[in-house]
Amino acid sequence: MSRKVTKAIFPVAGLGTRFLPATKSVPKEIMTLVDRPLIQYAIDEAREAGITDFIFVTSKGKSALEDYFDRSVELETDLEAKGKHELLDVLKSTYMESGAIAYIRQHRALGLGHAVWCARRLIGDEPFAVMLPDDVIAADKPCLKQMVEAYEETGGCMVAAMEVPQEKASSYGLLDVKADMGSVVSVKNMVEKPKPEDAPSNLAVIGRYILTPDVMRNLETIDRGAGGELQLTDAIAEELRQNRNVFGYRFEGQRFDCGSKAGFLQATVAFGLARSDLRGEFETYLDDLYAVRQAQL
Ligand code: UTP
Repeated sequence: MSRKVTKAIFPVAGLGTRFLPATKSVPKEIMTLVDRPLIQYAIDEAREAGITDFIFVTSKGKSALEDYFDRSVELETDLEAKGKHELLDVLKSTYMESGAIAYIRQHRALGLGHAVWCARRLIGDEPFAVMLPDDVIAADKPCLKQMVEAYEETGGCMVAAMEVPQEKASSYGLLDVKADMGSVVSVKNMVEKPKPEDAPSNLAVIGRYILTPDVMRNLETIDRGAGGELQLTDAIAEELRQNRNVFGYRFEGQRFDCGSKAGFLQATVAFGLARSDLRGEFETYLDDLYAVRQAQL
């Protein structure tokens, strides 16, 4: 099987309850980090990794997400007429080639594994990436690109991995490591959200995956797992039971959990400070805030 990865699934059908009431009407993936919606960060990362086919698994109430990728002719004409060429370039950078995006509906939120499985007919017999847009990763070389390069060497399935604090490990899928080669680890087992006493390590899976079509087949046969949901982790772990390789990849970069409020705020500060057009004013504000807080202690 070719190791070229050109298709990516973006499962965005979750309910986003941690961001209620905002997510009553705004999909989580449209929420804005500085001035771009979360989904744009994921799309840019995917493009830089060579992805050409973008498959969104959506649900009821996510039409704003589909609209976001439409061409906005009126806005374009207006910016053109006013000579706002920089903004026009920003606008155009969000456009997608016709036919590059497909939308599949997940009719019930039955879990991440189920969402991925919903895209099976568009994947066929090729390796594919899965990207969770609420994991935003700041990196010199985009995380998925790092993984695609590593995957060209290893084959098998590959999941992005990072060490998390022991007390938080139970909220993640965790890797039981067979051999540690540095950036790449080979995996002997994976467990989704284990009890603390059952955690095999604190090396956690985060929202970037390169998977073989076998994982789609596993999703057909495995039982529902943690939380009564069809778990992607279980379908990948099934590969190990079938004696096929699974690797963890310790990416270089900083991951922000923008599915949580604290993570979203941290990302806002980090991405705000990284922007040359905002840094001066923002840094001064943060310094002043810090000084006031220190004085209050
Ligand atoms: P989360 O665990 O973050 O769930 O899903 P959520 O519904 O988005 O948010 P909370 O926990 O209620 O606040 C991880 C990823 O899997 C997708 C989500 O859209 C998100 O990208 N997902 C989850 C689905 O597409 N379908 C599902 O049934 C579950």
